[in-house]
Amino acid sequence: MKRLLIVANLPSENTRRLAAAVRDGARHPDIDAVDCRLVEALDACADDVLAADAIILGTTENFGLLSGRLKDFLERIYYPCLEHTEGLPWALYVRAGNDGEGAMRSVERIVTGLRWRAAQPALVLKGDWQDQYTAQATDLGTAMAAGLELGAL
Ligand SMILES: Cc1cc2nc3c(=O)[nH]c(=O)nc-3n(C[C@H](O)[C@H](O)[C@H](O)COP(=O)(O)O)c2cc1C
Repeated sequence: MKRLLIVANLPSENTRRLAAAVRDGARHPDIDAVDCRLVEALDACADDVLAADAIILGTTENFGLLSGRLKDFLERIYYPCLEHTEGLPWALYVRAGNDGEGAMRSVERIVTGLRWRAAQPALVLKGDWQDQYTAQATDLGTAMAAGLELGAL
């Protein structure tokens, strides 16, 4: 079994809906060799990352940056993981009121230091909620899990 970890802050109904969609996408019925866990950012720790074969980070954009909860997670795992997770395939989704670029860039900057490997383009979901966002999040989860199962990440 390969392990896919999703770590996200979940401050609202929409963000919980997105995270669940990513997780459900990763649990696609045709994918049976990937175990996917969704963990809220404050509850996630370095051991979760060390045990993962790939990771999806999810954040809201707050004050033009990543959320405080995801930043706290990355601060806690940074040094315990730094020498052990180089090349970890990762992906990102951002939920933003009107922009999202700052959150995307701030996560990417931190992850550059960790030397993880981007497996998908960042998914930025901004503005008023659109029903298609759920499908996009599901597709992200499916793409990561399928890539992991096929050894293509
Ligand atoms: C303190 C705070 C700061 C925020 N800053 C930004 C921001 O800089 N840019 C942006 O696009 N949205 C910003 N937002 C909006 C959040 O990204 C948005 O509330 C979050 O993605 C949840 O969206 P939802 O209404 O779909 O649940 C901010 C929200 C809060 C509470």
